[in-house]
Amino acid sequence: MIMKKSLFFTFFLVLFFACNTYRSLPDLVYNNEWETIKIAATPQIKTGNAEAGWDYLINGNYIGSGVPFDLVKKKIATKKDTILNRKGINENMPFGLTAFQHANGTEVMSGNCLTCHGGFLNGEFIAGLGGFGNEFNDFSKNNATTFKALNTLVKLKYKQDSKEREAYEVFGKINKEALSYIVTPFDGVNPAFRLEEAYIMKRNREDLTLQEDSNYKLDKRYTLASDIPPWWHLKKKNALYYNGMGRGDFTKLLMQASTQGIKDSTEARAIQQNFIDVLAYLETIEAPKYPKAVNENIIWKGEKLFNKKCSNCHGTYGEIEAYPNKLVALEEIKTDPYYALNFSAKMHLADWYNESWYGQSAPKSWVQPMDGYIAPPLDGVWATAPYFHNASVPDLESVLNSESRPTYWKRGKELDYKKMGWQYQKVKKGGNKKTYDTTLPGYSNEGHYFGDEFTQEERMAVIEYLKTL
Ligand code: HEC
Ligand code: HEC
Repeated sequence: MIMKKSLFFTFFLVLFFACNTYRSLPDLVYNNEWETIKIAATPQIKTGNAEAGWDYLINGNYIGSGVPFDLVKKKIATKKDTILNRKGINENMPFGLTAFQHANGTEVMSGNCLTCHGGFLNGEFIAGLGGFGNEFNDFSKNNATTFKALNTLVKLKYKQDSKEREAYEVFGKINKEALSYIVTPFDGVNPAFRLEEAYIMKRNREDLTLQEDSNYKLDKRYTLASDIPPWWHLKKKNALYYNGMGRGDFTKLLMQASTQGIKDSTEARAIQQNFIDVLAYLETIEAPKYPKAVNENIIWKGEKLFNKKCSNCHGTYGEIEAYPNKLVALEEIKTDPYYALNFSAKMHLADWYNESWYGQSAPKSWVQPMDGYIAPPLDGVWATAPYFHNASVPDLESVLNSESRPTYWKRGKELDYKKMGWQYQKVKKGGNKKTYDTTLPGYSNEGHYFGDEFTQEERMAVIEYLKTL
């Protein structure tokens, strides 16, 4: 026991003070034998209706339970929804929140997919925009206290056996606990899978109901988080998520946010049926076109360099489109290994998921974490800053020139069209919620050195070409 404690203490110290030595941590050693692979396609349900999918995504009941709408309506539903142009009970709701009917008929409110997956670019709202930056997803704040207050409020206002209390129960119980596990060290990274791990921590595998006992222990002290991938990549992908761990049927993988509030697997089954439409919608999304003029004189040169040095992993674009679905080994890519290792070493998520309703009932999906990252499609890459799975690099110029990557940086408000990415300000130290700190484990900006050999002129030509994808 003493041995264990001291190990734990060392782990703690290493995590916070000796950055980058975490690779030597006992449970985070990665598999050097393993090599880059191509992930093959698995069959997907193709019978969905895209229009119905969009409607379900912005109005649907996939979170299952929520805050009684009556309690918050006056405060929240205050302005006409001119972004999604919703009608009915969502007519005056902000885009990141949805009101819907709980199974018992009560109107409730929760977040929706766009809480994390929607954003503004040049003033225009884009559903499925990657990167970060909308008012709903600053996870550097601890919202657990807000939820505790909300729980009290609901208890005061509604009687124990009321429909409102029933419609709030799962949502209130789960969030009160889960939100304390996901506080990120700074704004601009998204802890979606940590959230998921907290939501399923007390869910029964087979029927998804809430139980008293925890399936595993989660560590509250440090939150690993990621960037948000754009939705328009989905149609090219054979596996989901930065480390390619999402395998098999996509409808089930995509509905994981439901674990926040559904009652059981019977509700999950009904939601999965609607996700056949959601999948159809996601597959129709196209990358936004670059809005400015490009330098036609250098694009051909950039294309040639790209096809020589990059397309092997990222695929080809234009007349002959091909995307190899490569999962590149950590040894080869050398970007921060922690995110991938967190899933392959601990296996909380994979063990639960694969034994659960998601993994065991048809259509089957599974979580298969491996020690690598997917080389993503680069369609619309001009619009998906910041870059890499952990959002550590602000622009394409520094993706292609590792020397110019800032150690501590604060994101500006506009895009930089020359370096192509977010404008940013370099600062001297981290330690605050607005500064990206690349010295923290999981957040380093190392690796992917493939552009380092380019001359600056070649680099600019490649960036110009990338803008056209
Ligand atoms: C709490 C924030 C959050 C919510 C809510 C959320 N997502 Fe995500 N989503 C993420 C993050 C972060 C990732 C990236 C995780 C990773 O790849 O490891 C992701 C990944 C994805 C991907 C993977 C794409 C790829 O290229 O691999 C899709 C598609 C997606 N989400 C769709 C949805 C849908 C549909 C919903 C609503 C049912 C939803 N998400 C709800 C944060 C969220
Ligand atoms: C050996 C395979 C490989 C080669 C070669 C390669 N890349 Fe990558 N690239 C990757 C992987 C894997 C990632 C994801 C890394 C991560 O998220 O940690 C990536 C990420 C990127 C990103 C960030 C995408 C995003 O949205 O975050 C860009 C841009 C990029 N590569 C461009 C290039 C260019 C340009 C070249 C050629 C100079 C190139 N890559 C060569 C594998 C490769």
